[in-house]
Amino acid sequence: MDFKIAVIKGDGIGHEIIDETIKILNKIGKKYGHNFKYTEALAGGAAIDKTGTALPEETLNICRGTDALLFGAVGGPKWDNLPGRDRPEQGLLKLRKELGLYANLRPAVMFDELRRSCPLRGDIVEGGLDILIIRELTGGIYFGKKYTESDKAEDTMEYSRHEIERIAHIGFQTAQKRKGILTSVDKANVLETSRLWRKTFEEISPGYPDVTLNHMYVDNAAMQLVYNPKQFDVIATENMFGDILSDEAAMITGSIGLLPSAALGNNYGMYEPIHGSAPDIAGQGKANPIAAILSSAMMLKYSFNLPEEAENIENAVKKALAKGCRTSDIAMKNEKVSTTEEMGDIIALSL
Ligand code: NAI
Ligand code: MG
Repeated sequence: MDFKIAVIKGDGIGHEIIDETIKILNKIGKKYGHNFKYTEALAGGAAIDKTGTALPEETLNICRGTDALLFGAVGGPKWDNLPGRDRPEQGLLKLRKELGLYANLRPAVMFDELRRSCPLRGDIVEGGLDILIIRELTGGIYFGKKYTESDKAEDTMEYSRHEIERIAHIGFQTAQKRKGILTSVDKANVLETSRLWRKTFEEISPGYPDVTLNHMYVDNAAMQLVYNPKQFDVIATENMFGDILSDEAAMITGSIGLLPSAALGNNYGMYEPIHGSAPDIAGQGKANPIAAILSSAMMLKYSFNLPEEAENIENAVKKALAKGCRTSDIAMKNEKVSTTEEMGDIIALSL
């Protein structure tokens, strides 16, 4: 089958990590008989240099003509203080908004091979961790009515049934593709928005008989994430709670160079590592490509419905780590350090 993918490498290490990711996708295509067709587009600093704006109209058109977007990272000191110009990161925010990407999926995966970088006690994470946090991205208190006077300020949390329903469907559908356990996190003992949130999830639940729905208050969820994280499969929550819980979950896994993410809308998905353009190590072959490579596995799973191929990539990453391949961010003192390209090669060989 043919799959059309928009590719934005962006700035800094974006190029290095996306090149390795495409290497992996091409090998998967060959192995399973798929044809991945890439169209490169500009955003961020590279786009500012070439067109004067962080998100050219042509980039949006390219995205609209494809099935999914693979994104590296944007930004860097070169573009931080350009008077009268966009900042590179504005291109990213605008992209998410224009493409209607309202659900942010952030897996927190801890590989058993890298357990030493986990701040939690060994027995708590024995066997590895695999949690997926779904954060509502375009509603809630960050987007509600705001009011300020000199000694008083207000932020308002608002959710409509429609906004909750669409994130709930993503939560249930995602859980179906995993272990089938969905934990909806709210504060329904205090907040009206949370009571509507909980009621809406309950109403949608019968449509997904293969998914077990649990509810948890957000303060308890924060505790449970460090006390017994293995109980979780998929967590779905509103914008602010998700912002906080996804950072907490990311930290228990160790390195920033390992974590992928997806931003999903109704008809489109954007896949990107959670890290930035890392100007301090750009162009030196030091970047860990795993976060980008695992982002492409999410693309196969969520946009193209190719779970077997996605699992093949995830297992190849685990194998490369088990073989002892380490980029500088995850290498211990006396371990041999591999380059970005070497890590990509070993993962490709392990597919
Ligand atoms: P960063 O994530 O780029 O880097 C933070 C630290 O982690 C650096 O020491 C970097 O070397 C290291 N690191 C990041 N990714 C790595 C990888 N794959 N392998 C090994 N080490 C890695 O965040 P920072 O330094 O705050 O931002 C740098 C630039 O990136 C800024 O211009 C920022 O605005 C932009 N940025 C862009 C994002 C995006 O495009 N989604 C997200 C976050 C930041
Ligand atoms: Mg945050």
